[in-house]
Amino acid sequence: MNHSLAPSGLPGIDWAARHMPLLADTFAEVGSAFAGLRLAMTIHIEPKTAVLCQYLVAAGAQMTLTGNIGTTQPDTAEALRALGVVVLGARDDTVLEREAHLDAMLAQRPDLVLDNGGDLVIRLIEGAPRSPDFRGATEETTTGAFRIRALDASPDFPVVVINDSRLKLLVENEFGVGQSIVQGFMNATNLMIPGQRIGVVGYGPCGKGTADTLRALGASVTVAEIDPFRQLDALMRGHAVADLDAVLAASDAVFLATGARQVITEEHLPSLRDGIVLVGVGHEGRELDIAALRAASGEVVSLSPAGADADARLLHRLTDGREVVVLHSTHMINLTAAGGNPIQAMDLGLALQARSLAAIAGGDVADGVDAVPSRVDRVLAEGLVRLLSRR
Ligand SMILES: NC(=O)c1ccc[n+]([C@@H]2O[C@H](COP(=O)([O-])OP(=O)(O)OC[C@H]3O[C@@H](n4cnc5c(N)ncnc54)[C@H](O)[C@@H]3O)[C@@H](O)[C@H]2O)c1
Repeated sequence: MNHSLAPSGLPGIDWAARHMPLLADTFAEVGSAFAGLRLAMTIHIEPKTAVLCQYLVAAGAQMTLTGNIGTTQPDTAEALRALGVVVLGARDDTVLEREAHLDAMLAQRPDLVLDNGGDLVIRLIEGAPRSPDFRGATEETTTGAFRIRALDASPDFPVVVINDSRLKLLVENEFGVGQSIVQGFMNATNLMIPGQRIGVVGYGPCGKGTADTLRALGASVTVAEIDPFRQLDALMRGHAVADLDAVLAASDAVFLATGARQVITEEHLPSLRDGIVLVGVGHEGRELDIAALRAASGEVVSLSPAGADADARLLHRLTDGREVVVLHSTHMINLTAAGGNPIQAMDLGLALQARSLAAIAGGDVADGVDAVPSRVDRVLAEGLVRLLSRR
C-alpha cells in the first residue's frame, strides 16, 4: 500500500465535489439513513465516486470498496484508504483477483450493497451468507441488470437498477457518455474526428450519445444495431445504418457500445478494414473476442506512448498483412483515457444511487428487481432543471 500517494488524490476529489450539488443536497436530506450501516460497493474508483464514498463515511457508514478491472485510479484509492474506507484491489487486477475481492466484501456481511455488473447481487441471490440486517442492493449498469433478470430466481430482497432511470439514461448515458467517450478516444489517439468514417455498434443511449457527438464534430457515422426501432432512431437522426460486417469493412474507427459479449468474433475478422481502430464504450470490454484476434495475428506490437500501459494502443498485424489497433483492450475509453463521465452527469447518477440506497435502507422498496423509484427521478429532475436554468 502506498500511502505517499494519498495527498495527490485529494485535489481531484475536491474539484469533483465542488461540482456535485445534487449529491450534497441528497446527503443533507437523506444522509442519516446510512448511520451505522455496513456498505459493500463495487464501482469505478475515480474522483467522482470517491465523493460519494466521502459523503457515506461522513454519514456514518462503514465501507468496503473494490473497483472494476483496468479503471481503478491508484491515487484516488489511496485517498479513500486514508479516509478509513477498506479498498480492495488495484488497477491491474486479474479477473480471478477481482472475484476474490468480491467474495471478501460479501464475507463482511454488508447491510447494503452497491453493485456494478451484477456480480455481488448474483452471489447474494445464489446463497452467499447475508447480514441479519441485510436491506438490499442497487445495480448500476444495464449489463448487470440483464444478468440478474436472466436468473431463474428473482431476488428476495430489493434490487434497484440505477440504469433504468429515465433521467440517468438521458443525462449520463446519452450526453455524459457521448462527450467523455469521444474525449477518451481523442486523448488515446491524438487523431482527428472531422471527415473520418466512424462506426458505432449498438444504438442504445450510450451508442446514441457517442454517435451524435462524433457527428457533431464532423465524422460520418454508420451505426450497426440489431433492434429495428433503434436502427430507425439512428436513421432519423441522420446516421447511416448497415450490418456489422459492412461497418467493420468501411470504418476508420469503430466504437463498441452494446454491452453484449462477443459481438466481434472470429467470423467477423475477415471484414476488418486495414488500419481500423477498435474502441470500447460498453461495460467490461468484452464485445471483442481478443483471443480470436490474437490467434489471427502474426505479430502484436504495443504502440503505447512512453509511460502508458502497454495495451493502451496495441497493434495486431494479421497474417494477411492487415493491421488492427485495439485501444485499452476495449475497456471503456472514457475511463481508461479520460476522466470518466463528466462531473455533473456523475453528480446526477450518484445522487440517484444515494437516494435509492437510502430508500432501500429505510425499507421503502419492495423485494425484486425494479427501476429507481419514480419520486427519486422526479426530485432529481426538478433539482437539475433548477440548476441548469439558474433558478
Ligand atoms: N462508458 C461508460 O461510461 C458507460 C456508462 C453507462 C453505461 N455503459 C455501458 O454501455 C453499454 C451500453 O449501454 P446502453 O445504456 O446504451 O445499453 P442498451 O442495452 O440500451 O443498448 C445497447 C444496444 O446494443 C444493441 N446490441 C446488442 N447486441 C448487438 C449486436 N450484436 N450488434 C449490434 N447491436 C447490438 C442492443 O439492441 C441495444 O440497442 C452497457 O454495457 C452499459 O453498462 C458505459
